[in-house]
Amino acid sequence: MAKKPKKFKGAEMGDFPAAVANVVEDWIDHGNEKGFEMLSVMGPAGVGKTHLAWAVMDLFLPNVKRGRYSYPDFWKSTGLIMEMQACMGEGAGHYRGMIENLAEHDNLVVIDDLGTEKMTDFAHTGIVHLISSREEAMLPTMITSNLTIDEIAEHIDSRVASRLAGGVVLGMQGKDRRVKS
Ligand SMILES: Nc1ncnc2c1ncn2[C@@H]1O[C@H](COP(=O)(O)OP(=O)(O)OP(=O)(O)O)[C@@H](O)[C@H]1O
Ligand SMILES: [Mg+2]
Repeated sequence: MAKKPKKFKGAEMGDFPAAVANVVEDWIDHGNEKGFEMLSVMGPAGVGKTHLAWAVMDLFLPNVKRGRYSYPDFWKSTGLIMEMQACMGEGAGHYRGMIENLAEHDNLVVIDDLGTEKMTDFAHTGIVHLISSREEAMLPTMITSNLTIDEIAEHIDSRVASRLAGGVVLGMQGKDRRVKS
């Protein structure tokens, strides 16, 4: 799991317009009552998807304090794929245990930057299993991506794209905040 990078230390929901904060707050309220749908945050580079994901990690903490969920996991998708590959190197059983644990763990799991990076077949299967299992179990799961739902269907998996489309999809727009004007 990734530790909060320095750049996102101060990230909080107050950094975002009410329209964005409301979507996330409603996602948590609705999820706490009925079970969680997937939350997908899509948009181009630099608009604040990762910043929002770290703010959501904090927003979720009251659920942890109340004992509803375990502590959240934040994964960069590249880091998740590397971890999967490392576990596979230790044996198929080890790899399977890691995926099952992520698929079933009763916590918020964030996968940041789900994208087009090359995946081995088993890493691809692992990601599909992880997302589809968590969606079926209605466990809190958030992904961010530069891709659209259609591009996810094309480049990753149509079943993953369909599960994301069936949940809450938040499109973020605006300028690239990394570029100084
Ligand atoms: N609402 C905000 N308030 C203050 N700073 C922000 C906000 N949104 C983003 N930033 C800052 O702008 C920079 C770019 O944001 P971020 O990394 O979240 O973009 P991104 O959408 O994840 O981009 P990429 O697709 O390239 O990963 C970061 O330094 C981030 O902390
Ligand atoms: Mg990002």
